[in-house]
Amino acid sequence: MPNSNGRHRNSAKPNGLRRFLEVALSDYRHVGALLPSSKYACRSVANQLPTGAVNVVEYGAGSGQVSREILGRLPGHGQLVSLEVNPDFAASLGTIDDPRFTVLYHDVVAASARLRELCEGQIDAVVSGIPFSFIEPDDQRHIVANTFDALSPQGHFVVYQNSTRTLGLLEEHFPSVQVMFEPRNFLPYFIMVAHKNGQDVASSGQKTAEKRKKRRLATSR
Ligand SMILES: C[S@@+](CC[C@H](N)C(=O)[O-])C[C@H]1O[C@@H](n2cnc3c(N)ncnc32)[C@H](O)[C@@H]1O
Repeated sequence: MPNSNGRHRNSAKPNGLRRFLEVALSDYRHVGALLPSSKYACRSVANQLPTGAVNVVEYGAGSGQVSREILGRLPGHGQLVSLEVNPDFAASLGTIDDPRFTVLYHDVVAASARLRELCEGQIDAVVSGIPFSFIEPDDQRHIVANTFDALSPQGHFVVYQNSTRTLGLLEEHFPSVQVMFEPRNFLPYFIMVAHKNGQDVASSGQKTAEKRKKRRLATSR
């Protein structure tokens, strides 16, 4: 439930940590982590939402650490739709008491093709914590392509992982991808922010896929 500031507390209590570990050990190929994201990582991920984001989709909500942080950033009329394939996590997410929050017990591989049906209004951001490296390459490609199609023109696809293995795939579909490192998590995260409209990042002077591509072209001449 939101507190008096409309924000959710994001503290993983010891019981919550033990429960996450139990679920993770019983379904490691889906969960891909032993602990939920740290509060620092959750904040760093949620900071990547586009300014004024209203409608957000989440892939792989787990025990809802990142979901709560996202809800804390959304306006009163906002909407967070979280897709979760593990039945224990999906059931416990149902206890998050917030009218803006919907949990769908769905596999992202199939559901990514129907994102526009699952979310009312334009999708401003998709935030993903699913372990891409455990997913078949064709399915990874399908998820990234469908996400690109479903996002609004200024939308962001925010992917947090323990490696940058997904970066190349994101760069194939999105005109610019920004990479950040968040060490305050077990294990540290790379947060990759793929921008549907490459302009906003290119003008900020940050390291972007566009710049890397230009550099590669220049050095190959
Ligand atoms: C690394 S955990 C992240 C959990 C949570 N977001 C956090 O940051 O603490 C990955 C989550 O993605 C879910 N997941 C993995 N593959 C999925 C898929 N194909 N569709 C939906 N959820 C998936 C797992 O069940 C797990 O809850």
